[in-house]
Amino acid sequence: MSKHLGTIWNLDPHTAKKHELLRRYFVAWLPIMAKWNGRIVYIDGFAGPGRYSKGEDGSPVVVLKAARDHSYAIKSELVCLFVEDDLERCEHLKSVLGEMSETIPDRIKWQVFKGKFDEHLTKTFALIEAQKKNIAPTLVFIDPFGFSHTPFATISKILKNSRCEVLINFMYEEVNRFLSLEKLSNDYDVLFGTTEWRVLLDISEADQRKQAIHDIYLKQLRTAARYVHSFEMLNKGNSTDYFLFFATNNLKGLEKMKEAMWKVDDTGSFQFSDYHDARRLMSLFSDHPNLAPLREMIVSKFSGTRISINDLNDWVIAETPFLPKHLKRPVLAPMEEDGELSVIGAKPNRRRGTFSDGTILKFA
Ligand SMILES: C[S@@+](CC[C@H](N)C(=O)[O-])C[C@H]1O[C@@H](n2cnc3c(N)ncnc32)[C@H](O)[C@@H]1O
Repeated sequence: MSKHLGTIWNLDPHTAKKHELLRRYFVAWLPIMAKWNGRIVYIDGFAGPGRYSKGEDGSPVVVLKAARDHSYAIKSELVCLFVEDDLERCEHLKSVLGEMSETIPDRIKWQVFKGKFDEHLTKTFALIEAQKKNIAPTLVFIDPFGFSHTPFATISKILKNSRCEVLINFMYEEVNRFLSLEKLSNDYDVLFGTTEWRVLLDISEADQRKQAIHDIYLKQLRTAARYVHSFEMLNKGNSTDYFLFFATNNLKGLEKMKEAMWKVDDTGSFQFSDYHDARRLMSLFSDHPNLAPLREMIVSKFSGTRISINDLNDWVIAETPFLPKHLKRPVLAPMEEDGELSVIGAKPNRRRGTFSDGTILKFA
């Protein structure tokens, strides 16, 4: 596929959305990590040429500009490493970044490597291990064209470092298309890091199979990282092109990524479609996410039990599609009004419908 495209290619609307998600998360991640660490690292494992055919920014430029233009004046060093295997794209990227290098402050270092993601990351992590060094907080963006260069073993190795996070483009459409090709079975073992994917061959119903492919990869990521969340990208024909999977060991990281995903798709369905975008259908659903499922999930999980507002907040981030902002006023306040919850511990003079830190709730 990459060879057909030439050195640079056209930007699809869903690629622009992918960049928006990356940028929004990076902007949230940067000050949180920079506050406590002298050095933080961003790795783009499939960096591309840095620019699209109409001059739009590629992912390395999206991130460097976000770091440069950030309102928070970071004092730590940010190291950005860009890996690209195609020589011409690599040279193109160097020249694009070279053009903007004078505008990049000294505390932001960047370097472009010609080579393969897998080999480069394996070498880097082996070196860190050998030197018994603590790895700096690292965000790794993994954005391949296909599925044969992203071994699960490498991704798992990255995530075993508790301060590393990954955003992976899982190429669902291609994964699904070639699944029954016997000669690729080893590639699938390597991609999934398990032979379990073979059960997919017995699923003929398209939606079921899509869900099962998604779920096997999600389950695998959960063996390496505590929290995993996905976002679905659909093409012009409104069928799924790929899933972006975010994996982290950090609850705050998960919260920030979910916030970014809700910004990109404010319906809370965690998807973006080129098809709907072209017809502007998404806006019909905007502004009023349906929060009824959150209320139902709370009732089914906590009925008859007590919990602090802080723990409930963490549960919403970790176990539901929703965000903390959806919890108190939109859901808990009406539940209190309807007698579905009572407050059994709170600061003196608490007002009904408010739930400050430390408040203890009991669900009917
Ligand atoms: C989807 S494009 C990346 C686009 C880029 N991340 C962006 O958003 O602007 C994938 C890139 O990975 C490069 N590539 C292919 N195999 C690779 C490998 N094993 N390691 C690193 N780069 C590779 C391709 O040449 C291509 O430029």
